[in-house]
Amino acid sequence: MNCEIGSIIKLDQKFFERPWTKEMWSNLNFDKTQTNFYYLSKINHSDICVGFSLYLINKAESLAHLLKILVIPNKRGKGISSVQLKNDIKYFQSLFIEKIYLEVSTKNLNAIKFYKKHSFVTLRYTQKFYNNGDDAFVMELPL
Ligand SMILES: CC(C)(COP(=O)(O)OP(=O)(O)OC[C@H]1O[C@@H](n2cnc3c(N)ncnc32)[C@H](O)[C@@H]1OP(=O)(O)O)[C@@H](O)C(=O)NCCC(=O)NCCS
Repeated sequence: MNCEIGSIIKLDQKFFERPWTKEMWSNLNFDKTQTNFYYLSKINHSDICVGFSLYLINKAESLAHLLKILVIPNKRGKGISSVQLKNDIKYFQSLFIEKIYLEVSTKNLNAIKFYKKHSFVTLRYTQKFYNNGDDAFVMELPL
């Protein structure tokens, strides 16, 4: 399974509690010449699509909003997302992006641990951020 958009959508549906609809995915603007655009970074291992990261870039505000980062369960804990994040950061620095920010469910302890390991700091706690009533931490990483 190569990382074409259909495979990414399948991973999103299979592994995320709140997957996006196909329509939401098909409306994403990946045009890098725009002030606001989505950046999708795909993770292939031996021609298999094992994960991805997705950001909304705002060049005017020098921000990258991390929307989703995922590795399939049997490839987790092997440093794959760490390499991915470091590559994403290099790309953002080339665009003069100054920070990455994100929201993460307070229940997603593995992801919180991952972000803290990569020096993200918690800015605030937002109650009932998600539709199911879950709370979120807002975190950011200055680049
Ligand atoms: C969060 C996620 C992307 C990390 O990917 P990964 O490739 O497994 O991460 P890495 O191997 O590069 O980094 C591992 C670090 O993340 C944290 N971590 C990730 N999974 C963990 C687990 N199962 N148990 C404990 N810590 C974990 C730890 O800090 C770990 O560092 P350590 O090995 O030094 O303890 C992955 O767990 C995932 O896909 N989760 C489901 C999707 C998700 O919740 N995404 C975030 C919200 S969008």
